[in-house]
Amino acid sequence: MHVTLPHGVQLRYDDAGSGQPVVLLHAFPLSAALWRAQLSTLGDRMRMIAPDLRGFGGSPATPLPQSLDDYATDVLALLDTLNIERAVLAGLSMGGYIAFALLRRAPERISGLLLADTRATADSEETRAARAVNARIALEEGSAALAGRMLPNLVAPGASEALRAELLSIAAANPPEGIAAALHAMAARPDSTPLLAEIRVPTTVVVGAEDTLPPPAEAQVMHNAIADSRFVVIPHSGHLSAIERPAEFNLALVELVMRVEAASRT
Ligand code: MLT
Repeated sequence: MHVTLPHGVQLRYDDAGSGQPVVLLHAFPLSAALWRAQLSTLGDRMRMIAPDLRGFGGSPATPLPQSLDDYATDVLALLDTLNIERAVLAGLSMGGYIAFALLRRAPERISGLLLADTRATADSEETRAARAVNARIALEEGSAALAGRMLPNLVAPGASEALRAELLSIAAANPPEGIAAALHAMAARPDSTPLLAEIRVPTTVVVGAEDTLPPPAEAQVMHNAIADSRFVVIPHSGHLSAIERPAEFNLALVELVMRVEAASRT
């Protein structure tokens, strides 16, 4: 589906299934295609709204500069357009950073949180510098060049060649301007650690056992800071748990939706 939001941003998004609304926020430098295994199998359990964030997949890039708040604005406007008052947010890595921006902006719109392979902390100076280099590579050499450098480190060493090729083609199809804008936005994001103690909705922190960004021990620290949180480590998965180990990821998501439904009945 395609929509032009009231503030002029155009988004392509998937809207699949029925029941509890769940917004799926994808990782960098991918698109809603990250969620194919959720969209194709969980529709009888929940309604999944999976936008291509601006500048990714079928959603055109917008001019720089850009912050994660801009992506959060798009998500809120999409929920308004679809008449959805409250939703579970499931954010993987960059998607988690956007979930934090939404928590800051509109906590009343969030009924549950799945924070996958993400971190609450801001970037170090070293990471910011690396993002500036990566933005230049994307703009000067193209999205495929950047994807080829990044993706081998994202998935677990045992990931199949077919999955690696699929991820490469998703990332290579994104416009370099969208990739550069997201790198700029991620580098500028604030520390969300103080927000963790304020989270009052059912939450699940998911991390691949072989993820390095963040490693499980760091994800566990984030989980420990959230009141109603479950912690799920997915074996044999790297950073992209939703697509590397969909069966285990889906179990965690369904369990969270059940907790959200139970909480709404009390
Ligand atoms: C992602 O998967 O979204 C990225 O690894 C996030 C990041 O670069 O911090």
